[in-house]
Amino acid sequence: MRNIILIGFMGTGKTTVGKILAKQLNAKFVDTDELIEKQEHMPIPQIFSQKGEPYFREVEKKIIKQLSTQTSMVIAAGGGAVLNRENVANLRRNGAIICLSADSDVILKRVQQHQHRPLLNVSDRRKRIEELLELRLPYYQKAADYIIDTSELEAVEAAGKIFDIVKGII
Ligand code: S3P
Repeated sequence: MRNIILIGFMGTGKTTVGKILAKQLNAKFVDTDELIEKQEHMPIPQIFSQKGEPYFREVEKKIIKQLSTQTSMVIAAGGGAVLNRENVANLRRNGAIICLSADSDVILKRVQQHQHRPLLNVSDRRKRIEELLELRLPYYQKAADYIIDTSELEAVEAAGKIFDIVKGII
């Protein structure tokens, strides 16, 4: 099976939906953030604060390169991964790229309880989300084979929609 790669902004459901989808497809689920944390023996906020975002992006790039040589996986890619062209090319190598999207209000609500996203640890989260979304939208659109709006979907419904799309192409 070719890989299914879930991309998209923080809080669009990549990890939750990816885990359900992987079960449905009988595939392995991997999350690039989790692999980065394992390799660095440190949670992401600490990598950002101690080593800086450029270091995080380098590790992310290496992990994605390694993943691109493997198949039969559902991969949840960190929200900033597709800003790098090399990452997109590597992800595409063995897989179909599905972008999960959501309205900024929904994103704000979903990420509200979490402190583990250093880019959103600012006083005005709404503003930061809107700025980042505007900047990133073209990257997500360009990288994606399909886009699924999860704003009004339960994770299991989003996974079902992706399953229907990918069963014909993987
Ligand atoms: C980031 C998204 C995060 C994580 C890091 C940076 C981003 O992943 O990679 O905090 O730049 O959007 P999730 O999208 O899984 O939250």
